[in-house]
Amino acid sequence: MLVSCWSAKGGSGATVVAAALATVLGRRGEEGALLADLAGDLPVVLGLPEPDGPGLAEWLAAGPDVPADALARLEVPVRPGLRVLPSGSRALGAPERAEVLAALLAGDPRPVVADVGTVTARPGDGAQAEVRRVLAASATHSLLVTRSCYLAVRRASSLPLRPSGIVLVAEEGRSLGRREVEDLVGAPVVAEVACHKDVARAVDSGLLARRVPRGLERALRHAA
Ligand SMILES: Nc1ncnc2c1ncn2[C@@H]1O[C@H](COP(=O)(O)OP(=O)(O)OP(=O)(O)O)[C@@H](O)[C@H]1O
Ligand SMILES: [Mg+2]
Repeated sequence: MLVSCWSAKGGSGATVVAAALATVLGRRGEEGALLADLAGDLPVVLGLPEPDGPGLAEWLAAGPDVPADALARLEVPVRPGLRVLPSGSRALGAPERAEVLAALLAGDPRPVVADVGTVTARPGDGAQAEVRRVLAASATHSLLVTRSCYLAVRRASSLPLRPSGIVLVAEEGRSLGRREVEDLVGAPVVAEVACHKDVARAVDSGLLARRVPRGLERALRHAA
């Protein structure tokens, strides 16, 4: 199972949701969970030293002759039940390999959560954008993470990509509610995450994977 967490606008909470969801899923089964980092912020959020070795960008660039165990060799342990595939030290490219990557991740016996980053759809926006679109589109669960911000929701609704579910990061004082977001995007809200200081603190201190705040864990329980 591949769960892709993506946003239509920066700063939406995609990395936080991906890290928390993988932690929650990793506790469910004996095999744990795998986090695939296509955006680059996961080491900081997980409290890991910045990896300086190869990652997903290098795997994509290596082409079809890459050894069968190359992906597994990139994995870095985070804590029992959670491992991460780092993003690598170059820009994402080789979009022709992105479908193969998505299929390998989806076929992993563990639940795999990908932090896909921001998905855009401007003509000529490059190989990196294409890799993100493919990973978002090819997932078992394609989750748009968005705040109830009209600018973000409008961008999501104009993409050629429809998520299978929405994780709504609810902020006070917004005029768009759950129903309006669902209508504009054309997908159901599968989790509603409150903006809470406990989440912000866990992120800032790199402790998110060690102690997922109770409210965030409860909100994501049925997201995938
Ligand atoms: N539920 C939440 N409660 C409080 N703060 C949150 C919550 N979710 C995210 N944040 C904060 O919002 C900021 C953006 O979150 P995050 O990095 O997950 O977004 P993103 O969509 O991955 O952004 P980027 O576009 O930079 O990849 C961070 O400072 C994070 O701590
Ligand atoms: Mg991010």
